[in-house]
Amino acid sequence: MSHEDRALAFACRMPKAELHVHIEGTLEPDLAFRLARRNGLTLPFADEQALHAAKAFTDLQSFLDLYYACAAVLRTEQDFADLMTAYLARARDDHVVHAEIFFDPQTHTARGVPIGTVIAGLDQGRRTAAREWGITTRLILCFLRHLSEDEALATWAEAQPFLDSIDGFGLDSSERDHPPRHFARVFAQARALGKPVVAHAGEEGPPDFITEALDILKVARIDHGVRAVEDDAVLARLVAERVPLTVCPLSNVRLCVYPTMREHALPRLLAAGARVTINSDDPAYFGGYLNDNIRAVQAAFGFDIETWARMGRDSLEASFAPAGDITRWVEELERLRRSACAA
Ligand code: HPA
Ligand code: ZN
Repeated sequence: MSHEDRALAFACRMPKAELHVHIEGTLEPDLAFRLARRNGLTLPFADEQALHAAKAFTDLQSFLDLYYACAAVLRTEQDFADLMTAYLARARDDHVVHAEIFFDPQTHTARGVPIGTVIAGLDQGRRTAAREWGITTRLILCFLRHLSEDEALATWAEAQPFLDSIDGFGLDSSERDHPPRHFARVFAQARALGKPVVAHAGEEGPPDFITEALDILKVARIDHGVRAVEDDAVLARLVAERVPLTVCPLSNVRLCVYPTMREHALPRLLAAGARVTINSDDPAYFGGYLNDNIRAVQAAFGFDIETWARMGRDSLEASFAPAGDITRWVEELERLRRSACAA
C-alpha cells in the first residue's frame, strides 16, 4: 500500500467528531419520497433520479432552494426521528464517535410544524444512536439569516421550553447581504444561557464576516471560514486565537466556492496553522458523508498520517463534548496513529 493509501485508511478509521452537518441536509432521495408518500405530499420531482439531477448547483442559493423544498416532506415526530437515525447510522459507519448537528426550526415552523415536534423527533433519533451505537450528540439550533432578527427572536421564544435538548446556537442560510451583526441581540441572549454559539461565516461572504462573528456574536467556532485565506490579518487572528474552522470540502466544490478540490483553501489553512476540521455539511446533496469528504480531499492533496491525525484530534478537541470523553477519544486516535505509522 502507498503512503497515501495508508494515510487514507487511517483517516477513515480514526475516531472523529463531525461538527458541521445540517440534519435537513442528510435527507436522502429515497427517504424524501418515502416520507412524501407517508404524509400524502408530492415532491416537485417525478422520481429519485429527477431529484438527483436537480443537484447541479451554481452557488449557495441554488442549493438552499432545493434544500428547503425537500425539507417540506418532514412533518411528524417520527419523520424527524427517522432522519436522525439514518444520519447517525451513516456517521457510525464512518467512525464518527460524536456529532454536533444543526437544525433549522424556522424551516419547519413556517409550514406549521411545531418546534416541539421537530425536537422530540430529533431527540428520539439521538437516543437510539446513543443506545445502539454509543454515539454522543449535540443539537445546535440555527437561525436563518435570510429572515429578520425579529423572526429569530420569535424562534428563540418558541425554543424556551426545549432548552434541555438544545446544546448551542448557530447561524446559517444565505450569507451574502446577511452579515452576522444583524443577529447581535439574539446571540447575546443565547450566550447569556451559557451555551456555546457558532456561525457560518466566510463561505460565500467576505472575511469581514468572520471578524464580525468573532467580535459581535462571540462564536466558539467558525463554520466554513475558508475565505479567511483572502485576508492575512483574519487568518493570522484565527491561528493566534486557535479558533476552530468546520470546513466542508465537498460542499465548497459543489457550491462553486472553488472550481475543483485542487483549488480548495484547505492546504493553505493547514500551512498557516489553523485548526481545521473536516465535515460533510449537507451530505445528501453534496456527494457524500464524512469519509467521502476525506477520500475526496486525499485524492486531491495526498496528506500524510500526521496531517490527518491533526485534523482528527482538532475535531474531537473543538467539540462541545465532556473533557473526559475527548481525552479518551484522542488516546484511541493516538494508539491507532502509532500502529498505522509502525505498519
Ligand atoms: N451554508 C449556509 N446555510 C446552509 C448550508 C451552508 O452550507 N447548508 C445548509 N444551510
Ligand atoms: Zn453548513
